[in-house]
Amino acid sequence: MAIFLDTGKIEEIEKFMKMGILRGVTTNPTILLKSGVTGGKEAIKKRSIEIANIIKPYPLSVEVTTNDPKGMIDQAKEFSKWADNINVKITIHGPNGELHNLEVVHLLENKHNIRVNVTAMMSAQQCFLASLAGATYVSLFAGRVNNMGYNACIEIKKLRKLLDDFNLKAKIIIGSTREILNVIEWLEAGAHIVTVVPEFLEGMIVHPYSKETVKQFLNDAKKAEEMLKS
Ligand code: E4P
Repeated sequence: MAIFLDTGKIEEIEKFMKMGILRGVTTNPTILLKSGVTGGKEAIKKRSIEIANIIKPYPLSVEVTTNDPKGMIDQAKEFSKWADNINVKITIHGPNGELHNLEVVHLLENKHNIRVNVTAMMSAQQCFLASLAGATYVSLFAGRVNNMGYNACIEIKKLRKLLDDFNLKAKIIIGSTREILNVIEWLEAGAHIVTVVPEFLEGMIVHPYSKETVKQFLNDAKKAEEMLKS
């Protein structure tokens, strides 16, 4: 698993898929809007099917756009039919702390056989309960946690231990990357997956000293060729 891409941009997904370094993609309504997906559910459907096809058999997370329990179930059933590798993102609770979301998660996983990614979580305790409800993935927004003044690595470590100790199937997705160093730091803390924005993935690959070294190799290869000719 390890690296997912947190984007809805086709060119970025294709670029990193071709390198063989992606194991999935995550989206949410904000990401899709930023990726130029406007036009409601039809536009979400078109982009999601396109992404799911590019990355199959790796998973794509698509988030519901309502917090009404029946609406979430209906959308989850619909989204999961778009492609075999689509899982559905449901937030841990509603905008005012409404509690019916975990019941929806439990029903989707156990009654409707739909894989769920429980999202917008900020603590190990939220992720632990979502895992008990049956979630396949639990998404903790570590950058937002750090921005509140807490160290997300402590939550990630606690969460991984809980999942392992209680033998829960959920995989930990850590999102909300803010710096390139977050990726390895969060994997080291116990994340199964870090979902990374495209700019940071590129930043992980390119190093100024590697650039200089490659330039040196190419220049010396050219010099050696010229010496052969003379
Ligand atoms: C993860 O699944 C989320 O889509 C994402 O990482 C949220 O990141 P943000 O805090 O930058 O919005």
